[in-house]
Amino acid sequence: MNTPMEKLVKLHDKSFRLYKSESEILSAVRNVAGQINDDYIGKRPLLVPVLNGSFLFAADLLKELKLDCELSFIKVVSYHGTSSNGSPNMLIGLNQNIEGRHIIIIEDIVDTGNTLARILPELRAQNPASIKVATLLFKPLALKADVPVDYIGMEIPNDFIVGYGLDYDGLGRNLRDVYQVVPE
Ligand code: IMP
Ligand code: MG
Repeated sequence: MNTPMEKLVKLHDKSFRLYKSESEILSAVRNVAGQINDDYIGKRPLLVPVLNGSFLFAADLLKELKLDCELSFIKVVSYHGTSSNGSPNMLIGLNQNIEGRHIIIIEDIVDTGNTLARILPELRAQNPASIKVATLLFKPLALKADVPVDYIGMEIPNDFIVGYGLDYDGLGRNLRDVYQVVPE
């Protein structure tokens, strides 16, 4: 299988092979942006990217949007307080009123959907005019939670990937292309 030309990267203990090139990724980004441009004519959506993984997708997507739009990053973090009544993770970063706003959640990848399942009810409770989800990558075979995924850049198989914002234990976010783990 391995050709001499194959592009491999090593991160920690694993090897990854080139899976989607930067140009394939950027064309998927433009495709998602085109749909959003069409669907939000005359509206001013608030884009809500989920850190950390979505920062590059959010940046490239925004550059392709031709409408007035706003941006507010959020993050789902583990709760390390002393109180025991909190949920195991919490949403931080959304410090503006979203009532009546058209929200587009921006994800790097939807895998199990658990992250979205954590985020969506909290945003819905604030009565936005609408909520849609845009993800660069979607693993349909991994999906467990019942969450909507409205805009999808690319569907991919259920394999671990890195690059273009996505990491393996902290590394790989800076890669321009997307790489797939090489099974051991
Ligand atoms: P979820 O399983 O849909 O909740 O995905 C949660 C998060 O896990 C995603 O937003 C990514 O940041 C991360 N993730 C899921 N699959 C991968 C992967 O294949 N590589 C790197 N990160 C991933
Ligand atoms: Mg993420």
